Amino acid sequence: MNRRIITIDGPAGAGKTTVSKTLARELGCVYVDTGALYRAVAFEIERRQINWKDSALLEQFLACLDLDFVMEGRDPVLTSSGRDISAYIRTHDISMLASATSAVPQVRKALLGIQKSIAEERDAVFEGRDMGTAVFPNASYKFFLTADVNVRARRRFDESNASGIAFEKILEDMVKRDADDTQRAVSPLKQAPDAILIDATALDVSQVVKKMKSTIIVA
Ligand code: C5P
Repeated sequence: MNRRIITIDGPAGAGKTTVSKTLARELGCVYVDTGALYRAVAFEIERRQINWKDSALLEQFLACLDLDFVMEGRDPVLTSSGRDISAYIRTHDISMLASATSAVPQVRKALLGIQKSIAEERDAVFEGRDMGTAVFPNASYKFFLTADVNVRARRRFDESNASGIAFEKILEDMVKRDADDTQRAVSPLKQAPDAILIDATALDVSQVVKKMKSTIIVA
């Protein structure tokens, strides 16, 4: 059966998560955060102290990795070896490591199956960097959500004020992550030719969702 798949790609801090969750809720489908997969890989690399630059060791590690999306409540929750790790994967260090390790082709290949299998089971909104370009080139609807980097960094700073990280550091790291994500050789962050571009610099979540819904034929 052909599922309705909506992809939302874009750089960090553009508001993809809130927008994707809201859109999924309003359309009655599930929300899948693919960044969580890359973060989970980084988290396990860190936890198990894997030398991921050694491709044989990385291959071994990936073969043993046991990531799964389990339905819990409305949206699938990512587990690693049966354990919900969501509370541990949102730190600044994991963000930076995920950005570095996601550039490795072996890592991307290892995560492809899990993303595709969930799309076979449910209508879903997929949030990520390469959803519309590499993972679901035939998605029903594709969006590329971006915003000015200063606005994105300010949002991240406001969200993470308890972390004690200075705004300038968040901005600097966001510029680095943007560069890493857009310049990597495999599945770089870029707008798919058939994706609709939305610049959220001056828009709030409800305005972005409204724009998206205006192009989607509600079943
Ligand atoms: O979206 P989020 O910031 O949680 O993603 C963490 C990192 O995972 C990103 O910086 C990006 O490098 C990587 N990622 C990716 N492809 C995706 C989703 C995330 O390379 N589809």
